[in-house]
Amino acid sequence: MKTFWDERYQQEDYAYGTEPNQFFKECISQLPAGKLLLPAEGEGRNAVYAAQKDWSVTAFDQSKSGKTKAILLADQKGVDIIYDVLDIANMPYPSEKFDAAALIYVHFPDYVRQEYHRKIVDKIKPGGSLILEAFSKNNLVYRQANPSVGGPDQLSLLFDVAEIKTDFPDFLWNIAEETEILLDEGIFHKGKASVVRFFGTKK
Ligand SMILES: C[S@@+](CC[C@H](N)C(=O)[O-])C[C@H]1O[C@@H](n2cnc3c(N)ncnc32)[C@H](O)[C@@H]1O
Repeated sequence: MKTFWDERYQQEDYAYGTEPNQFFKECISQLPAGKLLLPAEGEGRNAVYAAQKDWSVTAFDQSKSGKTKAILLADQKGVDIIYDVLDIANMPYPSEKFDAAALIYVHFPDYVRQEYHRKIVDKIKPGGSLILEAFSKNNLVYRQANPSVGGPDQLSLLFDVAEIKTDFPDFLWNIAEETEILLDEGIFHKGKASVVRFFGTKK
């Protein structure tokens, strides 16, 4: 899979565009700027946006090509971000370091998903926030009708609301929903999609 992402990010265009994810943008604007963790951040669209809004951003991804594009975008926008190339299995950050974390279209294999989600929760301070948007299990139908909408083609990689609530039991949710949206993010997220959206506070 690492090769898949490296190859995708070696194209000149930004796979999901250079603008932040809309839900991320809406949620982050409701929080005071602080320390933000962005796991599996790809080409850095959300990291760069948050840095422009005065967040102190630590992003990481397994893809070296993702980092190259993210740093290029940060330079173009005149902001600094920390961007580490690593696998989440080896995430080195201290517990409870971050005021917020955001998982935007991060679909881990089901045999490690809960473990990886717990690792991310550990890095968020009590009272800190989590923002999550990802494809729902119902997106398979949308993807069949329009492959340009993207997302995993295996049910086990997709989410439903109950599953996320189980993975993140120590959160109070302001938003916890499955909804249909119109995606317009770069080349690979285009069209009607079914997603889950979560925005909440760690108890
Ligand atoms: C669909 S992309 C989303 C990128 C970014 N969050 C965004 O919204 O633009 C999924 C990303 O997850 C990363 N990823 C998947 N498994 C990972 C792992 N175990 N450790 C670190 N990154 C991972 C991939 O390299 C890829 O960049």
